[in-house]
Amino acid sequence: MQRTKIAGIGMYVPKNIYTNNDMKQFMDTTDEWIQERTGIQERRFADRTQETTTTMAIEASKIAIERARITPQDIDFIVFATLSPDYYFPGCGVLLQRAMKMGEIGALDIRNQCSGFVYGLSVADQFIKTGMYKNILLVGSEKHSFGLDFSTRGRNVSVIFGDGAGAVVLQPTQDENQGILSTHLHSDGNDAELLAMFNPGTHANYWKEGLASFDEAKIGEMFLSKSMIDGSQNYPTMDGPSVFKKAIVKFPEVIMEALEANGYKTRDINMLIPHQANLRIAQFVQQKLGLSDNQVHNNIQKYGNTTAASVPIALCEAWELGKIKQGDLVCLAAFGSGFTWASALIKW
Ligand SMILES: CC(C)(COP(=O)(O)OP(=O)(O)OC[C@H]1O[C@@H](n2cnc3c(N)ncnc32)[C@H](O)[C@@H]1OP(=O)(O)O)[C@@H](O)C(=O)NCCC(=O)NCCS
Repeated sequence: MQRTKIAGIGMYVPKNIYTNNDMKQFMDTTDEWIQERTGIQERRFADRTQETTTTMAIEASKIAIERARITPQDIDFIVFATLSPDYYFPGCGVLLQRAMKMGEIGALDIRNQCSGFVYGLSVADQFIKTGMYKNILLVGSEKHSFGLDFSTRGRNVSVIFGDGAGAVVLQPTQDENQGILSTHLHSDGNDAELLAMFNPGTHANYWKEGLASFDEAKIGEMFLSKSMIDGSQNYPTMDGPSVFKKAIVKFPEVIMEALEANGYKTRDINMLIPHQANLRIAQFVQQKLGLSDNQVHNNIQKYGNTTAASVPIALCEAWELGKIKQGDLVCLAAFGSGFTWASALIKW
């Protein structure tokens, strides 16, 4: 059976840089606290009105498409991963299709947060391997800056996240020494509420008390009520220590699963691209697996956690820096809200 190769890759980050010291204008925090806990030094925030999750995706996609030496009209399927869509619905996939003047192709939106890109890669891989599509555009893009609590109350979440986009063009290859070797997807919904944004939503406190405030007598105002907004219940929330503990178990597990499925050892990895959740998590994983510094690429220091965009941005940057060469064994691994986690092993 044919394999799926990455034929082109691109990334885009907004030009507005916010250092940790810049964050002090919104909240009570310090550069030392943020760097010590997360490794983050600065992040990019999109222009408030001139950039959206989709416009950043367009910029990354243009580069990926050009590097694949095709045109937007050659794309035959879109997979778009984000948790910060331009509209609640429709998804960003159709906005990308419209803006890039693509044909009336399928556009699939993926909602798997930090694992979204690797989940999307797995879906696209199946379509390519079976011969259904020949040029899939897979994008991860986030405009977090529009929906975070920048007050001191939300500081444990808002200092972590940044904006940006990454994209790849996926094509079939007959070369046995190239392409996606396997993908591995997991979830455990028992801790769904530990890293989540509850509102707007249809839950009405069904799963857990106190997540939303609304007037039960009024039909139609439960999705997003004034009292939710007044109570800041429309922002993401995170139990950081619990996320940390789960992540440092699941990252190594899913990386080892990918290696074992293909008969490789950790020493065979040329480049590990971990989702840029937190530099401390990535360092823990690196140490646990006994990987050297030149086997792992991290860039959370510059961009923060860009969720669905983090893996393609780090992958693109590593490739642009010449850290990934043809024939290299590249491992992608992600963990995030859900919880969901995933890995992919690729022969570049
Ligand atoms: C979020 C995280 C950095 C918090 O670090 P932590 O050491 O666990 O900190 P805690 O949440 O226990 O908070 C410790 C103290 O720091 C404070 N604090 C939180 N955010 C702060 C900030 N930005 N600046 C200064 N102080 C902050 C808290 O209010 C708390 O103060 P208190 O002890 O007076 O109550 C850490 O838990 C983490 O990285 N978790 C994983 C998160 C992650 O990777 N998320 C993405 C998953 S995809």
